[in-house]
Amino acid sequence: MSDEPTGPMLPQDRGPVSAAMIGALRDGGPPAVGEAAATADPYGDDLQLALYVAYELHYRGFAGVDPAREWDPELLRVRAVLERRFLDALRADATAHESATAALDDLLVEPVGGDGVPHVLERSGTRSQLREYAAQRSLYHLKEADPHAWVLPRLWGRAKAGMAAVEFDEFGGGRAERVHAQLFADLMADLGLDTTYGRYVEAAGAEMLAVVNLMSLFGLHRALRGALVGHFAAVEVTSSPASRRLAGAMRRAGAGPAAEFFYDEHVEADAVHEQVVRHEVVDGLLAVEPHLERDVAFGIDATGFLDDRFGERLLSAWQAGESSLRRAIELDLVRVP
Ligand SMILES: [Fe+2]
Ligand SMILES: [Fe+2]
Repeated sequence: MSDEPTGPMLPQDRGPVSAAMIGALRDGGPPAVGEAAATADPYGDDLQLALYVAYELHYRGFAGVDPAREWDPELLRVRAVLERRFLDALRADATAHESATAALDDLLVEPVGGDGVPHVLERSGTRSQLREYAAQRSLYHLKEADPHAWVLPRLWGRAKAGMAAVEFDEFGGGRAERVHAQLFADLMADLGLDTTYGRYVEAAGAEMLAVVNLMSLFGLHRALRGALVGHFAAVEVTSSPASRRLAGAMRRAGAGPAAEFFYDEHVEADAVHEQVVRHEVVDGLLAVEPHLERDVAFGIDATGFLDDRFGERLLSAWQAGESSLRRAIELDLVRVP
């Protein structure tokens, strides 16, 4: 038994469930959650942080936490309760389509009035709004494509080949400096942000944690492989037009060459990825497992639903002239370049 010598620090708790989970990791004992897990708000800070911490054991873990805790049955038992609450809420709130194609097509309808986050940042984003956006999105992009790799052993034929081809690009095509997570770290450096993995967990609200937890949830469960494929499809299909706007936002704000490059790269790459994901991964999966159609559609719908919630948090804060970050860490966000 050994502790991880390096890695992110355990975050501060945000309520009884996350306190029990973080305390268990800190002390080495079982999580004393009691009834709180079964009644926590499925989209709230407490449940989402507890789930985030549980999932992080499958990525890079935490400094001082024994890596063997990844398969601790007591932690997994609590995680399962939290996952059930999250999944039940999503199935109730985010099931809009029965067909994967219809779900993808609806995702491409731009918001009425052009007032999504990429639109707003392209039109009027300030450097500090771009920093807030990148700091929170770093929870996703610094593990970009990682949970999607978990689905590979669960696919076969065209779906596996197509998924591996896109993942090869996401992981830099054999070049470490081109790994998309690295390209995002370079963007963060241009914006004067700290590129350390896990640095901005405290900055991120429940909406951002939920975006990341969704892909971890889908990636870790073979039973949810259809939803994971749907999630990947939703990301690739929406990325190219959004990246074009975000590249424009970075250019207009003078953010720097790496900040522009991350989004320019995604305009090009994801236009190709969209075609591969639609025709090889989604169609290939449904050709051999047609019973997964509703799960693929659910994965797409849930992705759009949680992305919208994150976007609403940003825009409502900015419209009120406030920061979209959690209050406590606001002043600690950046080292001014
Ligand atoms: Fe990417
Ligand atoms: Fe991509």
